[in-house]
Amino acid sequence: MAEPKKLYIKTYGCQMNVYDSERMAEALEGYEETATPDDADLILLNTCHIREKAAEKVYSELGRYKHLKAENPDLKIGVAGCVAQAEGAEIMRRQQMVDLVVGPQSYHRLPELEAKARSGAKALDTDFPEELKFDHLAKRPKAKRGPTAFLTVQEGCDKFCAFCVVPYTRGAEVSRPVDTVLDEARGLVERGVREITLLGQNVNAYHGASADGERSLAQLIWALNDIDGLDRIRFTTSHPNDMSDDLIAAQGECEKLMPYLHLPVQSGSNAVLKKMNRKHTAEQYIRLIERIRAARPDILISGDFIVGFPGETDQDFADTMALVEEVRYGQCYSFKYSSRPGTPAAERALVDADVARERLTRLQRLLTTQQHAIQDAMVGREVSVLFERAGRLPGQMVGKSEYLHAVHVSDDSISTGDLRRVRIAQSAPNSLAGELAHG
Ligand code: SAH
Ligand code: SF4
Ligand code: F3S
Repeated sequence: MAEPKKLYIKTYGCQMNVYDSERMAEALEGYEETATPDDADLILLNTCHIREKAAEKVYSELGRYKHLKAENPDLKIGVAGCVAQAEGAEIMRRQQMVDLVVGPQSYHRLPELEAKARSGAKALDTDFPEELKFDHLAKRPKAKRGPTAFLTVQEGCDKFCAFCVVPYTRGAEVSRPVDTVLDEARGLVERGVREITLLGQNVNAYHGASADGERSLAQLIWALNDIDGLDRIRFTTSHPNDMSDDLIAAQGECEKLMPYLHLPVQSGSNAVLKKMNRKHTAEQYIRLIERIRAARPDILISGDFIVGFPGETDQDFADTMALVEEVRYGQCYSFKYSSRPGTPAAERALVDADVARERLTRLQRLLTTQQHAIQDAMVGREVSVLFERAGRLPGQMVGKSEYLHAVHVSDDSISTGDLRRVRIAQSAPNSLAGELAHG
């Protein structure tokens, strides 16, 4: 058999890209992954277009490969992901060294595209094909896995928030059939996975086909709950308007569903929410959080915020701060608005850059204070931790609690993949530490 060729994949952006990169590596038979671009025969950049900075990274990274291409004429370079979808052939014009461009819905065609690039032609595919890439991709399990895995169940978005590129880069919203999701989940569990995070840009809009008609995300979660050997289920990212009653109830009733919910609101101002086309008010969001907490009182809520959206006034920003005060988040991502070509908001006048920067600093300070308060309150409590890997100190292991806090424990009896009870003793800025709980 021929020596396998070497594949280097660099992944940017969201968890769906992480999942896709794993599938691309599996689809490219005859390749094995390498940890550095230096000895690669094929370099793939799996890119993100969500903010300007994310998209720019692609071109600076490509610049670094110039010398590799000069040294190794057989090296092929490909761009995948959301920049590939958004910019298409333009990437090859801007960077002549790029041999292959493939959009997120066409990864099952990667072997053909690679062969075309190998033959010396430029290979481009940014279609939204009829057939689902998953039908071809998810069936090639490789070796044993770590204890946690992502599983994409829904992709694309029909919501068209005024700032967001996702509906254009990932296309219309589609859900995978229930059976294929359950098969893939069973396959992961057979390879050692104990925790699965279901992924989708709008994962709670999931409506997968089954022999008994369409199934909701909550129904899918209940079906996964029956898989022996699977201990934990998570899902991300959810939209407030798709938080259905059965999903809220599952948060309280489904034993394997973890008490952590990422539910972005973006802004606390009704005027801004309207301009963003989010189709709900701040009051409706707060009421929703109350209902979720009634179902599962200890749930940790996380979110995303955009500050400096076009037209955002001081009062609008004050409303965002007030919403944050009321919700009390455990963990959040917050961003300065970045204008994206082709989105409705791109036409609108920007907020002054200094004002936006100052608002972001104030918001992040408040979010950090809340994150620390919730972490500090864990001290003295017992949590369950799924251990994922060795820590930096000798004998130390790191895992995640139910609430997705990173937890460090030094104890020789712990192995990767163990699920153990831990008593929290310390809270550090971004993690917790404790000891195994005995008895
Ligand atoms: N589907 C998810 C979010 C996907 S993008 C949702 O509906 O919440 C992840 C986050 O990036 C968003 O929640 C938003 O906070 C941020 N984001 C998206 N577009 C942005 C833009 N143009 N500028 C700044 N942040 C943006
Ligand atoms: Fe983007 Fe809005 Fe869709 Fe989320 S819901 S992916 S923010 S358009
Ligand atoms: Fe980025 Fe595309 Fe994900 S734009 S956030 S990689 S869906």
